[in-house]
Amino acid sequence: MPGQRADVKELKARLDMISIISRYVTLVKSGTGYKAKCPFHKDDTPSMTVSAEKGLWHCFGCGEGGDVIGFVMKIERLSFIEVVRRLAEEVGLSFEAADDGARDELKSLMADVANAFARNLRSDAGEKARDYLISRGYPESCWLKYGLGYAMPGWDHIKRTFSRRGEDVLLKLGLLVQGDKGTYDRFRDRTIFPILDLSGRPVGFGGRTFDGDPKYLNSPQTPLFDKGRLMYGISWARDRMSETRAAVLVEGYTDVLSLHQAGITHAVGSMGTSLTQGQADLLKRFVEDVVICYDQDAAGSAASLRGMQILYNSGLGVRVAQLPAGEDPDGYVRTHGAEAMQAILDEALPFHRFFIESLKARHDVTTIRGKEHLLEDAREFYGSVRSAALREEIDRQIADLIGLSVESVRRELPRRPRARDPEEPIHEPAMHWGVEEHLLALVLRGQISWEKIAFEVSADDFSEANRPIARRLASGMTDLSELIGDLDEEGARRASYYALAPLEIDVDQTIEDAKRWMGQLPAIEKRLKELDPMIKRSATAEDWELWDRLAREKAELRIAWRRAKDATGEGIHEQQSQEGRSEIEAS
Ligand code: CTP
Ligand code: MN
Repeated sequence: MPGQRADVKELKARLDMISIISRYVTLVKSGTGYKAKCPFHKDDTPSMTVSAEKGLWHCFGCGEGGDVIGFVMKIERLSFIEVVRRLAEEVGLSFEAADDGARDELKSLMADVANAFARNLRSDAGEKARDYLISRGYPESCWLKYGLGYAMPGWDHIKRTFSRRGEDVLLKLGLLVQGDKGTYDRFRDRTIFPILDLSGRPVGFGGRTFDGDPKYLNSPQTPLFDKGRLMYGISWARDRMSETRAAVLVEGYTDVLSLHQAGITHAVGSMGTSLTQGQADLLKRFVEDVVICYDQDAAGSAASLRGMQILYNSGLGVRVAQLPAGEDPDGYVRTHGAEAMQAILDEALPFHRFFIESLKARHDVTTIRGKEHLLEDAREFYGSVRSAALREEIDRQIADLIGLSVESVRRELPRRPRARDPEEPIHEPAMHWGVEEHLLALVLRGQISWEKIAFEVSADDFSEANRPIARRLASGMTDLSELIGDLDEEGARRASYYALAPLEIDVDQTIEDAKRWMGQLPAIEKRLKELDPMIKRSATAEDWELWDRLAREKAELRIAWRRAKDATGEGIHEQQSQEGRSEIEAS
């Protein structure tokens, strides 16, 4: 909300970032800024940089970063609004009773829209959706409880029904989309799953097609809806979660609903496989243990391992439930029943055992090559494990598995991520420097203006992860602190990194690269996203010829993607970045 942003801006201007951060860590002057040992990971060297001038902090060890409000949110585990209130009070600003009012109004509009969707479901036009829900095991008796609905097939049902509220508000809430010839309804002819906040009020929607890809369309990031800080079903699950101090984490809307229907009411959904730190923080307010029950196709993937690491490193107990191959919780519980599902959850493996099992499944430990690959594979995960006890345990189990001594395994696997000289240009594992990153860094540092490159590239040319930053720069947002405040957690982490990383960037070369390479990424990503379900389907249909063709196209596209992303003038980097891979796998 513009009103809120203005207020937060004023608040940040009045805050003394250095004195606030030094309540929690010891800051040492360094160059024009400060350095500190990072409180968010085990840090031996001071890898955190704080720049009061830019209003930003970033840790080059673990990749966390953002503005002062984000810092306090993280360290105190408070929500944005709680931190703003608290800091505002300190500097004698009374913060936004007015703003709460505005939010409240937006939420009640969302509730009205949810009601409209629910009414559609019961109207004549809703027959298809009603049949669909019933066929999936969601009878009428549960529609109200979960707020299910139907979006009409036309282009302007919501637009017309809520025209009195003003188009700009509907746009802001992501209910309308801006097209070339005006605005139109985002959700059309879809079954609607409202996404509720903690107190059970709708803040966003997921809409499922009856056929076609992609299956789901979700609300975009709005002032109310931040997918990275919400979990599907949290309001229905919170009581049971507090009671049991445990949660069952699944991927999808239907997984949550089917588990709740089966009485497993502490299930929540990450809405896709890429769990965020914000979601882990949310869970941490209610539970100590999480059982991950992801679709079996994805469970071994880098993206879901990363989710597990986030949970584990947040101090949560993590176990991993294993469904039969190709199954998801929704399908499993419907065909096998609640008891069988519960048994699967009960048998969930502790996180590190799951990790060892997945290594075992991926590598042939009877060969030397296989053993080498296994160690290579273990390395990245291992580096992110902060607990010494857990690392010892992993050493032992891997030693057992491949028949090496514990000592050799220990030598092979790094004790902890290599300590870096903070002045040295870094390529941290979680971020990858390609042409996009160079470009954004230049603009964020004020070395070039967005206008200078606006002829060559548009925000839409950026890959998904960087697009939110690019959009804001393109919209003329030049104030770093405002920009960071407007981004979600992942965006803030990236922006602070790009702005503060000690790196020399060749301006002309970067612009050259941008002209040559940018704009290809979104098209490649789009095609990659289409390919995954197609590959899955061809495998199900056992059409191996098609499968082979699609799999080959995917492999080629990945190389092209890497190439476009990596271009930095010195040619193409052969080395694969973890980040690049997982971004695509996460989609
Ligand atoms: N998802 C999404 N956008 C997509 C695909 C998936 O937001 N294009 C999210 C949704 O929250 C979805 C979850 O990821 O529920 C899991 O995706 P998937 O397993 O593909 O879908 P299912 O939940 O199994 O969907 P359904 O059971 O309706 O087929
Ligand atoms: Mn599914």
